[in-house]
Amino acid sequence: MSHSNDKGLRIYQDVFELERMHYGMWQPDEGLSYDNLKAAQQRYETFLIEHVPEGASSILDVGCGTGVMTRVLLAAGFEAEGLSPDIHQKRIFTEKCDAPFHHTTFDDFVPARQYDCLIMSESAQYINSAKLFANARTALGGDGHLLICDYFVLENATGIFRKSGHDYEPFLQEAEREGWELVENLDITEQVVKTLDAAMLAVNKLRLTLQIISERSREKHPKRFKLLNWLFRKKIDKYEQQILLLDSKRFSENKTYRFLKYRVSGA
Ligand SMILES: C[S@@+](CC[C@H](N)C(=O)[O-])C[C@H]1O[C@@H](n2cnc3c(N)ncnc32)[C@H](O)[C@@H]1O
Repeated sequence: MSHSNDKGLRIYQDVFELERMHYGMWQPDEGLSYDNLKAAQQRYETFLIEHVPEGASSILDVGCGTGVMTRVLLAAGFEAEGLSPDIHQKRIFTEKCDAPFHHTTFDDFVPARQYDCLIMSESAQYINSAKLFANARTALGGDGHLLICDYFVLENATGIFRKSGHDYEPFLQEAEREGWELVENLDITEQVVKTLDAAMLAVNKLRLTLQIISERSREKHPKRFKLLNWLFRKKIDKYEQQILLLDSKRFSENKTYRFLKYRVSGA
């Protein structure tokens, strides 16, 4: 069971005042600001709701994060439940939603009931694909819809960009082999990547702030700073690699962010 880094979640929520854990969908003319990021994230939730198949009433929000989407689903009149292996998300979800929460990975989930629809909003990438399709079929009772919104790795991807996300074409092929009908496949990469630009802007501002703050000490003690750089070179390298992931152009060259609507039928 995952015990996530609570500090990360607290910084995200308390410092940046962001409770949502997805990219969001931006409009082309929107500038990079917190307000626009929040608006983009809300737009994405509306987009997901609009894509819930007609007639579906019970929905499992798989990898529900802090429960924002579940709350939106409940408000829209759906019978929604949340699932996450993260103990801190369980606490936040329970505060936010009057709905059942399943504290488990989807890989290990044993459903006690059946749902009309499953939503995996930026969580499919964490779930073993064989388990994903098998357990989704069980949770839907062999009949229903699976909505996936996530990024996938393109065939030509290299380096650190290969690391997170399912491989795109093999994922689609596996779904087909497992009997899932692809009802809709939308490429929304262009709409989501502005979130990376916003994050890059924040990181660069933070870097500049640190540079300004440390300017005088760096001038006074250049050797000490050189030594610190050397001692922490591995950590610094790791951070630089992480920052590389915020490059929206490289993201689009290596990944594709998709909305996939699947249907399974015939138990
Ligand atoms: C990037 S967050 C997305 C949260 C939320 N769905 C959203 O759109 O804001 C990824 C979520 O997947 C969950 N997760 C990670 N591994 C998982 C697994 N194996 N099964 C189910 N959920 C998982 C995390 O705990 C987290 O809630």
